[in-house]
Amino acid sequence: MRRALVAAAAALTLTIAGGAVTGAPAQAEPSPGGPGLGDSYFPDYGNSGYDVDHYDIRLRYDPATDKLSGTTTIVARATKDLSRFNLDFLLDVESVKVNGWTAGHARRGGHELVVTPARPVTKDQQLTVVVKYAGIPSQVKYDGYTAWTRTADGALAVNEPEISWWWYPSNDHPKDKATFDVSVSVPDGVEVISNGVQPRPPLPELLGWTRWSWRSVKPQATYLTFLAIGQYDIVTDTAPNGQPVINAYSTRLGEAAGAARASVERTAEVIDWESGIFGPYPFEAQGGVAAPPDGIGFALETQTRPVYSAGFWRRGSNPYVIVHENAHQWFGDSVSVKEWRNIWLNEGFASYAEWLWSEEQGEGTAQELFDFTYALYPADDEFWQVLPGNPGADRVFDGAVYDRGAMALHQLRLAVGDDAFFRILPRWAASHQYGNGTIEQFQTLAERISGKDLDALFTTWLFTKGRPELTGTAARHT
Ligand code: ARG
Ligand code: ZN
Repeated sequence: MRRALVAAAAALTLTIAGGAVTGAPAQAEPSPGGPGLGDSYFPDYGNSGYDVDHYDIRLRYDPATDKLSGTTTIVARATKDLSRFNLDFLLDVESVKVNGWTAGHARRGGHELVVTPARPVTKDQQLTVVVKYAGIPSQVKYDGYTAWTRTADGALAVNEPEISWWWYPSNDHPKDKATFDVSVSVPDGVEVISNGVQPRPPLPELLGWTRWSWRSVKPQATYLTFLAIGQYDIVTDTAPNGQPVINAYSTRLGEAAGAARASVERTAEVIDWESGIFGPYPFEAQGGVAAPPDGIGFALETQTRPVYSAGFWRRGSNPYVIVHENAHQWFGDSVSVKEWRNIWLNEGFASYAEWLWSEEQGEGTAQELFDFTYALYPADDEFWQVLPGNPGADRVFDGAVYDRGAMALHQLRLAVGDDAFFRILPRWAASHQYGNGTIEQFQTLAERISGKDLDALFTTWLFTKGRPELTGTAARHT
């Protein structure tokens, strides 16, 4: 309807202005794609005007120099007539081709790479964008930092929300998921781990180099695509559901090696238990990567294969972080945030999964963990000033998003009862599988399943500063 009106208006203009009107139906002029998707926290993350179906990332990496070079091929579909479009990327670009034709490329402030095809692209047209590039990612700074982690024996491309800019050009927002092929050639004796499965074994390439290939066949957000390169022991197994389990352990864990293995080895067992609560595991493979001590200082729910900081094993084995990152496979990876302000849908849920695990193990009920957390932070603590439902762009990983976030889910459980609560969780995972969700949509679903008005509960626990008073149901168990 809108389109027809615009076309009619354009035709009218032509008639008046030129007189020489051809028989062809008039079209609106192709225009540039936008440099962002309008995320309320990160307006310039992602780009508008196209939608990516697949990334084929084919690289070469040398741990000795941190030099990364190669080609990413993006298969996308135009969502409007485009004169040009943007990609999010920071490394130096050598060339760009669109559908086989050399295209113009220019860096525009921040992380924007502007691509101008030789001829405009029409709506619904398939786009094959081939970007050749090279760089030293640890030396490329954005806002004073690099999210790429160089280690003594390799590198980790693992971070949230920003990581892809340092290793492949993309439409960098969880709203635009795609399937991935990732392959990296490295010196013989170096391991490369990424998401999904290996469509082929590591193959010799040139003299002294080996190419490793990985493939993700389910929709995957750009920030959940990772690389771990270095000295790793790779251990494969089969999960209770028949899926391949591929775990990787840095050979430099030292004292922590045993605890790392004792923890990451429980991945399939944890996923099996979580499947009983959240519904069928949404992906095609399982696993975990135990990063070296000079790697990242956090864990990340990289799809099918979370990556764990060595710090998690300092005090022995730790199944809780395995439970947390794998709960994200449902909440974060399969059901992703529609905007980053919805981060509670990831962190609140993964944190509450830890409470459920604790309850299951007889190590403290969710109620006891709720009471403990409530008492841990006095009413005047800063903790209560961060809103889990809208923490702000600079606080998306604030402790309150996790802990008060889990408390909010526990309050929901008390308000609707166990029967409804344990129907809401799998229903949420199923109804938004491989897609995106908002807190408002989750509230609507919870209200529909429970038959209760939950407005006050969501407002109090997610959107109101200060420590909530415990009254009624909330106080019942305390
Ligand atoms: N989603 C991750 C987790 O909860 C947190 C990532 C935090 N990001 C960071 N750069 N520290 O496990
Ligand atoms: Zn998390």
